[in-house]
Amino acid sequence: MNPDILKVLYSQDDIKQINQRLAAEIQADYAGKNPLVVCILKGAILFMTDLVRDIDDYLEIDFMDVSSYGDATVSSGEVKIIKDLDTSVNQRDVLIVEDIVDTGRTLKFLMDMFKTRNANSVKICTLMDKPDGRVVDVKADYVGTTVPNEFVVGYGLDYAERYRNLPYIGVLKPEIYADK
Ligand code: XMP
Ligand code: MG
Repeated sequence: MNPDILKVLYSQDDIKQINQRLAAEIQADYAGKNPLVVCILKGAILFMTDLVRDIDDYLEIDFMDVSSYGDATVSSGEVKIIKDLDTSVNQRDVLIVEDIVDTGRTLKFLMDMFKTRNANSVKICTLMDKPDGRVVDVKADYVGTTVPNEFVVGYGLDYAERYRNLPYIGVLKPEIYADK
């Protein structure tokens, strides 16, 4: 195990089971719809690529990179598009795949934007939900697991761009943050 990790919250096996359950729900709900699965970079990359492998039906994938401004501009809740989709969402059934919903600002922004762009439907699939962090009213349609208000890393999620490659999700030792 990575020496910076204090404890593992979700093992590779836990994640695999979550993904299989979510994929089965999504496959049933989207039968015959050829959804556009939108991965929100970078955090959702591992989750999305594993999830779609468990969905045995037609779908398309695309990527979007957005950044929410930090604490300094928290009140504005502004979200900036770093990389937009290549695909038009016009009349598409869009499934946004996110690593974690915290304040909800990122997803609120994306949902509104895809609706403005005339998507036929917009739903959210998130690996983790942190309901205690919620600032705007957003509810994910597919939730892998609910997590407490702790900072988690691994399986796509980073601290200072590290740990995304860990195959499990865990909490860092406090001294790792103290070093920064
Ligand atoms: P919102 O807009 O819901 O944004 O506040 C969710 C984004 O915030 C990041 N985030 C985390 N990243 N560990 C992380 O590595 C965490 O515990 C965590 N909580 C929130 C993440 O980028 C997510 O997409
Ligand atoms: Mg993210």
